[in-house]
Amino acid sequence: MPTFPNHLRGEGPTNPFPGVRVLERRLGREIPHQLGSNEGLDMPHRALREHFGDAMAAHVYSYGDAEALGIRRRLADQQGIPLDAMLVDAGADSLIALALRAVTGRDEVVVSTAGTYPTFAYFARGHGCRVEELPYDEGPGRLAPDLEALARAAHEHEARLVYLANPDNPSGNLHDDADVLALREALPETCWLLLDEAYHDFREDADAAYGRRVLPGVIRLRTLSKAHGLAGLRVGYAIADPETLAVMMKVRIHYAVSTLSQAAAEVVLDHPDEVAAHVAEVRRRRDRLAARLGELGADVLPSATNFVGLRLPSAELAERVHREMLAAGKLIARPADPALGHVLRITAVSDALVPGRLEILEQALVRG
Ligand SMILES: Cc1ncc(COP(=O)(O)O)c(C=O)c1O
Repeated sequence: MPTFPNHLRGEGPTNPFPGVRVLERRLGREIPHQLGSNEGLDMPHRALREHFGDAMAAHVYSYGDAEALGIRRRLADQQGIPLDAMLVDAGADSLIALALRAVTGRDEVVVSTAGTYPTFAYFARGHGCRVEELPYDEGPGRLAPDLEALARAAHEHEARLVYLANPDNPSGNLHDDADVLALREALPETCWLLLDEAYHDFREDADAAYGRRVLPGVIRLRTLSKAHGLAGLRVGYAIADPETLAVMMKVRIHYAVSTLSQAAAEVVLDHPDEVAAHVAEVRRRRDRLAARLGELGADVLPSATNFVGLRLPSAELAERVHREMLAAGKLIARPADPALGHVLRITAVSDALVPGRLEILEQALVRG
């Protein structure tokens, strides 16, 4: 089992403000008179009520539940993930930063793939880590993080952590469960695996037992930004063993997920049929988009996500298409890392399927 930096071993630091919801649970009863935490509890909120309605105002007065029990209970009930193996934070991005703070130290090496979800390397550098980035495994019909190379580099550099997005962004690639478990096996025992599963809900087998497993030495990350459509409210969760989550809790910004965000997440989680219908619709759109681009001769990558990745014959052409589309008010994604300069990524929203919307790209594909 990988360990934690010295300053986080043993007792403390202890969160000085777990908040009234946590205190109520510890005491086993409600505290009706909240006179101690300096919130603006009697603000009339006329403007806010007029703009958003009374229901919104009801959620904004108090500091939130630092343990987000309502969200965790729903996820535990629906997905079978153990309640004490989940930690809720302000999106998968926040959880990446939190995981780095909890398990890595300055000048330690972390390993990732050049061109994958760039926030990881950005946060790791900001945290003082040394980032080793390896090329994608690239071939016909294949653009995938190279698991064997990641494991080799982890040994070579005595890395503290390896980052893998699975499904991956921007390739859309999905490594199967056995390969991810084999990667964990192949890593040094002292090295963590940060498994970013932001697109997990779009997997055809999202409900399978693997999805709810707590994997030793692995911190899994999920988000409500994608399948649940709550990117603006910032809600995500980590799945890891309780000991690891306890250390993450030591360095967590305890009210990072607002009361309003928690309440909204609970409402959406209480309507799993709506989420499931949305996911099914997104998959259908993704497959239609991939088929249409494929018919025009595009090198469309297989995707287990809510987007389609495609490779253009050159980085220059991808840059031009991206630039001209932006000038026409249409933003698609092109990875900033030169290693993937030839890749474009299009989200499978219905707007992408409106005839003519991708005309600039389509003409570039037809011309070759
Ligand atoms: C791989 C990956 N991880 C994390 C995130 C960020 O998710 P969140 O909105 O939960 O911070 C994204 C969003 O695009 C992503 O693609």
